[in-house]
Amino acid sequence: MKVLVIGAGNMGLTYAQGMSKSKLLKKKNIMVLDKSDEKLEEVDQISYFDAYSELHECVPQADIIFIAVKPYHAEPLFKKISSLVTSDQIVISIMAGITIKTIKSLLGLQKIVRAMPNLPAKVGEGVTSYVASSKVSRLEMIVVESLLDTTGKSIQVNNENLIDASTGISGSGPAYVFYFMQSMMEAAQQMGFTRNESKVLVSQTFTGAVELFNQSDLSPNSWMEKVASKGGTTRAALDSMEDNNVNELIKDAAFAAFNKAIELGKNY
Ligand SMILES: NC(=O)c1ccc[n+]([C@@H]2O[C@H](COP(=O)([O-])OP(=O)(O)OC[C@H]3O[C@@H](n4cnc5c(N)ncnc54)[C@H](OP(=O)(O)O)[C@@H]3O)[C@@H](O)[C@H]2O)c1
Repeated sequence: MKVLVIGAGNMGLTYAQGMSKSKLLKKKNIMVLDKSDEKLEEVDQISYFDAYSELHECVPQADIIFIAVKPYHAEPLFKKISSLVTSDQIVISIMAGITIKTIKSLLGLQKIVRAMPNLPAKVGEGVTSYVASSKVSRLEMIVVESLLDTTGKSIQVNNENLIDASTGISGSGPAYVFYFMQSMMEAAQQMGFTRNESKVLVSQTFTGAVELFNQSDLSPNSWMEKVASKGGTTRAALDSMEDNNVNELIKDAAFAAFNKAIELGKNY
């Protein structure tokens, strides 16, 4: 099996590197194409990839074509490859906002997977939600999922709207966590800690809390109740958040990202 990754940017290279760890792919079975010479030089240094600059040299060889260019590059790219693709090829697109219907109509192919990754894929801790067109077989889905899982975890959804919804939760979500971290680091420094001390305090607090959550079946609410005793310090902080409606504000923020994803998708 051969995979072609089109677009050796942030996400394309992250997935190519993740997929190189897959047992399904042998060395040199990952082709990477980009239009920039600089990016291709970078790709050429990585021994398990074959770098390409010409579509006709790699598109016909691929079983799976992984599209990782910016959404505004999709149309010109698809125009160039539509005469090179064949109906048995599977296209996985991570382009935000470009629907399966659009990809089908521009490429004339039926086996399409639309996926929404997130940035922690770079360190193997990403989460990718994906939806597939009906022509992708169960066996092909297993292959697709195992390739996506090489950058973390993946979840299959059965409705394309949930791809936009996952933009609001996991796609943009790392920024919400960074926002919370930034506020806590600022508070720590205002209390007298150095920048480095506040970084350790905040980062390890996040890591530890997530680890506790992952190792149990308890909900975040149950964990909050465990940490907060009546009349204590944590209760004071949680009461302050409740009084300021922080819970609703965070939900509003996630919906703002979700709505923006829908709005941007209408441009394609
Ligand atoms: N970054 C994220 O966290 C994230 C999260 C979710 C989804 N995504 C999606 O992932 C996709 C890629 O994002 P990115 O941040 O990795 O973008 P990026 O760093 O700009 O990478 C895209 C690469 O594709 C190249 N390219 C453009 N048109 C091409 C063509 N016709 N043939 C070959 N190569 C071409 C670009 O070259 P030039 O630079 O020369 O144009 C660039 O090297 C986007 O569609 C985005 O919506 C990203």
